[in-house]
Amino acid sequence: MKIAVAGTGYVGLITGVCLAEMGYDVVCSDIREEKVLLLQSGCAPIFEPGLDSMLKRNLDAGRLLFTTDPELAYKNAELIFIAVGTPENPDGTANLDHVYEAAYTIGLCIDKDSIICTKSTVPVGTNERIKEIIRSVKPAHLEIQTVSTPEFLREGNAMYDFFYGDRIIIGTESEEAAKIVEQVFLPLKIPLIKTDTRSAEMIKYASNAFLATKISFINEIAAICDKVGANIEEVAFGIGKDRRIGPQFLQAGIGYGGSCFPKDTKALVQIAGNVEHQFELLEAVIKINIRQQLLAVQKAKELFGSLEGLRVAVLGLSFKPDTDDIREAASITILKALLAEGASVIAYDPVAISNARRVFGDEIEFTADIQTAISGAELSLIATEWDHIKYLPLEKYVQLMANPVIIDGRNCYSLKDVSKYPITYISIGRSALHPEQAQQHTRPGPNMKGRYDETITSILSD
Ligand code: UDX
Repeated sequence: MKIAVAGTGYVGLITGVCLAEMGYDVVCSDIREEKVLLLQSGCAPIFEPGLDSMLKRNLDAGRLLFTTDPELAYKNAELIFIAVGTPENPDGTANLDHVYEAAYTIGLCIDKDSIICTKSTVPVGTNERIKEIIRSVKPAHLEIQTVSTPEFLREGNAMYDFFYGDRIIIGTESEEAAKIVEQVFLPLKIPLIKTDTRSAEMIKYASNAFLATKISFINEIAAICDKVGANIEEVAFGIGKDRRIGPQFLQAGIGYGGSCFPKDTKALVQIAGNVEHQFELLEAVIKINIRQQLLAVQKAKELFGSLEGLRVAVLGLSFKPDTDDIREAASITILKALLAEGASVIAYDPVAISNARRVFGDEIEFTADIQTAISGAELSLIATEWDHIKYLPLEKYVQLMANPVIIDGRNCYSLKDVSKYPITYISIGRSALHPEQAQQHTRPGPNMKGRYDETITSILSD
């Protein structure tokens, strides 16, 4: 069976490479020539553990092709996945231009009956529009069916999730199409859920909205723990043991980022609004996350007073470990706030520096060496829980910082371990350590409260 994939972004590339690994003949198409050339040479344009070797293996085996030629991609294909981006419009809705363009091109190029599966995250009803577009331009004698097959790949674990995911959703009104798609994924032995198209489209948004809700919920509990002297990790462990709640996605921190949660939560609020339903719960989740992304800066201001001229090492730039993706990362919000406060910033990340440099240019220093970052810093602010950061021995902070202060936005260290060192340590939803030392850091600035509020206001209006 020949399978085509439209779009070689995160979802399209992983889908194409993994389907080839399953033994299918796969052609991935993209309109960006330089990206296709890179992929043809066996290099992945994104950092994803395991991707490079699987890409090369399948190129060498001749099962995987990359092309800018849509005819080469879609002619003779029985199954075509649409996996192009659905970026956010200024009003929070999903921009479907690329999806509809891909559908149009597919309709023009196909030369046999085919099934079009949409992996892009699209609002309810989009698959019907995709079907209309393809039908309006395809040769009259051909039959097409559409299927909603939302993706649930986590960046950094995408290959694992493809082969060992929790479920595969197959949303279509065509039993025949559902059976064919089922056969394609059957070897993975992942539970397959067949449903109607609209429910499948909603499952994707509802999944991400629920996970984002869990994160904002635990961050709210962490904020209260901070005030009442409870420990968020003990609380998360205690509630997570209840199987109705579950232990996952209860890691308190400086909020969620990435290409999915921020975009999909806003889009779902819009989808609800379009049918005159105000999704108040999700609106609160989004608001809490914005506050959470600035929490580390707020804590720094409470500790130091003014951040003007303060040497700050921001540790971690990617929105989570094992990816170079900085889209909607808390680190970006933090860096903007620190710069607005006049701090002198050096940022460390093992893989995301080139992406961050595109945003900040020379405004901040970058280093791929964590020890260089913290040397001489007055504050180390942990934004991403990379292993390189989690396993940096605490002595290093003591050796390399004159008066070590860590604000840990990801609760990387245990309080017991930190308490053995002369380190001022502020984390999320857990007691501050050595707060008496913290007093020495206070450098009151003029009208601090007012200035902090201004920073928040300007960042939120960005
Ligand atoms: C997410 C979904 O998990 C995946 O199913 C979907 O298809 C795409 O979006 P991803 O964006 O790669 O995947 O990352 P994920 O691991 O879900 O984390 C998202 C964000 O939430 C990260 O910024 C992470 O740091 C944060 N997070 C996650 C928390 O703050 N606490 C947690 O307990 C879990």
